[in-house]
Amino acid sequence: MPLQSEPPNVKIVIVGAGSVGVTTAYALLLSNLASEIVLLDIDTTRAEGEVIDLSHAAHFAHAKVRVARGYEDCAGATIVIITAGVNQKPGQTRLDLVKTNYRLFESVVPQVARHAPDTILLVATNPVDVLTQAAQDLSGFPTERVIGSGTAMDTTRFRHELGRHYRVNPRNVHAVIIGEHGDSQIPVWSLASIAGMRLRDYCRQAGVEYDEAAMDAVAQRTRGAAYEIIKRKGKTNYGVASVLVGIVEPIVKNNDAIVTVSRVGIYEGVGPVALSMPCKLNNSGAHMDVPLMLDDVEREGLRKSAESILEALNSARNPES
Ligand SMILES: NC(=O)c1ccc[n+]([C@@H]2O[C@H](COP(=O)([O-])OP(=O)(O)OC[C@H]3O[C@@H](n4cnc5c(N)ncnc54)[C@H](O)[C@@H]3O)[C@@H](O)[C@H]2O)c1
Ligand SMILES: *[C@@H]1O[C@H](CO)[C@@H](O)[C@H](O)[C@H]1NC(C)=O
Repeated sequence: MPLQSEPPNVKIVIVGAGSVGVTTAYALLLSNLASEIVLLDIDTTRAEGEVIDLSHAAHFAHAKVRVARGYEDCAGATIVIITAGVNQKPGQTRLDLVKTNYRLFESVVPQVARHAPDTILLVATNPVDVLTQAAQDLSGFPTERVIGSGTAMDTTRFRHELGRHYRVNPRNVHAVIIGEHGDSQIPVWSLASIAGMRLRDYCRQAGVEYDEAAMDAVAQRTRGAAYEIIKRKGKTNYGVASVLVGIVEPIVKNNDAIVTVSRVGIYEGVGPVALSMPCKLNNSGAHMDVPLMLDDVEREGLRKSAESILEALNSARNPES
């Protein structure tokens, strides 16, 4: 691997040096977006081991990688990525996961916010929408500075699946998944396009039938992708790490890229609640300047998605239920 030029003066802290955290650290290292990557984990021995290993990879890049001594090491971070938390275990309900990780955020987020009051929080821990909102509540940061990876992952998978179906490069497919990073997510069919043409127009021009059943299968594979991976390898890490780097990049480079990420807002009259919509990303965070144009079915789907996230959030906030 060739040595790259010096990265800009950017410090990124990753809270949670588990599978997602270290894969993200490695992807960040190779992306040359940061000059300093700091890992913070309650299991300091594990974090130390990962840092020694990563620092040998860092030899080929130009970033420093180190273990945090404590939350004071969040000071001066451009972005703090939170991947700490438990994964769903067999027999555990989604609600159990919400409560455990919500409690964890109550201990982590205020400490990050105290030491890095100007940072941007990037949440990956699941359920990511609920925890993005928890992170905003607990930090008191403005909504644009608390971002969840949300459906950036699902959007990537959606474009990948559409690209395969239509046999075009996914880069030339424009399509988004909005709402919950989970079962109530909404594929925005009304805006999906290839080469500037909506899918039905594209099919007409190509002289093929718009295949409704095939499109349902695409949406189903997108929604079910994580289950399929977890069924086989017990976790997901590479996709999410690349997506996190894809969110870090436009923030650090201040390049106004539009990425589908989760942030707190009012959606279809429901909220405040965090869910994903295409947002413009720059130095000051995630911005939703231009509302997305949706059809009635999509708006109804979005309203339902917002309500189901809010329900999960309320049960997590209430320790008695
Ligand atoms: N958003 C996504 O697309 C996406 C994809 C994959 C996984 N995830 C989520 O990311 C989270 C992490 O997954 P993983 O596979 O890396 O799990 P993991 O068990 O490998 O790592 C979790 C790490 O968090 C650490 N930790 C626990 N409590 C902590 C605390 N209070 N402070 C600091 N560190 C703490 C643990 O020591 C462990 O190293 C899970 O919630 C998972 O569901 C999200
Ligand atoms: C980022 O975008 C927002 C919304 O469009 C804008 O108000 C802000 O000035 C931009 N910030 C920077 C640093 O460019």
